[in-house]
Amino acid sequence: MLQLSVEKVDLFYGAAQALRQVSLTAEPRSITCVLGRNGTGKSSLLRAITGHQPISNGEICLNQRTLGSAAPFTRAAKGIAYVPQGREIFPLLSVEENLQTGFARLPRGERHIPEYVFDLFPVLKDMMGRRGGDLSGGQQQQLAIGRALVTRPKLLVLDEPTEGIQPSIIKDIGRAIQHLRNEFGLTILLVEQYLDFCRELADRVYILDRGEVVAHGVAEDLDRDDVRAHLTV
Ligand SMILES: Nc1ncnc2c1ncn2[C@@H]1O[C@H](COP(=O)(O)OP(=O)(O)OP(=O)(O)O)[C@@H](O)[C@H]1O
Ligand SMILES: [Mg+2]
Repeated sequence: MLQLSVEKVDLFYGAAQALRQVSLTAEPRSITCVLGRNGTGKSSLLRAITGHQPISNGEICLNQRTLGSAAPFTRAAKGIAYVPQGREIFPLLSVEENLQTGFARLPRGERHIPEYVFDLFPVLKDMMGRRGGDLSGGQQQQLAIGRALVTRPKLLVLDEPTEGIQPSIIKDIGRAIQHLRNEFGLTILLVEQYLDFCRELADRVYILDRGEVVAHGVAEDLDRDDVRAHLTV
C-alpha cells in the first residue's frame, strides 16, 4: 500500500511558474481526482510525481519518504505507474508487444501479463495481434492502462483517461478503476476535466486553478457553486 503526499511543490518552465505551493495527499484504497481547466498545471503535477519534470521547491513522498530527485524508472520500481495524457502507446507494435513493454522493470519470474488485465479489458485479449495504432482511441486508452498494470503498481497515476473517448468505454474504464481500488487496494490519482466521471469515482477531489490548489474536499463538494466557478470557462 502506498500513500502519496505532495507538499508545497513549486514547478517552473523557465521563468513561467506552472505549480505554486501545491499540496495534496492520495491514500491507499482510494481514488483522488484533480480537476481544473486547460493549462492549469494538471499534467505538470503528474509529471512532477512520476519524475518526468523536476520541481524547484517542496517534496513528493511515498509513505512519508521523500522521492527527492529520483528518476522515473526509480519511481516506477517503487510502484508508481503512469498513464500519460494522449496515452503514448506504440502504434507499430502489436497490443501484446505494447503490454510487454511493461516487463522491463519486472523480475524474470513475473514477466507475464496478469490475467486480471484481460478480465478488466477483454477487448485487449481479442486484439492481441492487432497493431496499437489501429485501435480506436478508447481501446488505446484501455491498452495504456493495461500496460501500466503489467508493472504491478501500487500507485496508478492517470492523466485524463476519458479525453476523446466514447461514453460506453468511459463506463468500462470507470468500472476498471473502481475495481482496482476495491479489489487490489491501489492508490489512484486521476486528473480529469470530465466532472461527472469524477463525481462518480472520486473519494477526494482537488481543484487546481492557475497552478494552485483552490479547493479540496469530497466528491459532493463538486456541486458547490464556489467550487464549480473554478471549473467553468
Ligand atoms: N514543456 C513545457 N514548457 C513550457 N511550458 C509548459 C510546458 N508544459 C506545460 N507548460 C505550460 O505550463 C502550464 C500548465 O500546463 P499543463 O500541461 O500542466 O496543464 P494541464 O492542466 O494539464 O492542461 P490540459 O488540460 O490542457 O492538459 C501551461 O501554461 C502550459 O503552457
Ligand atoms: Mg494536461
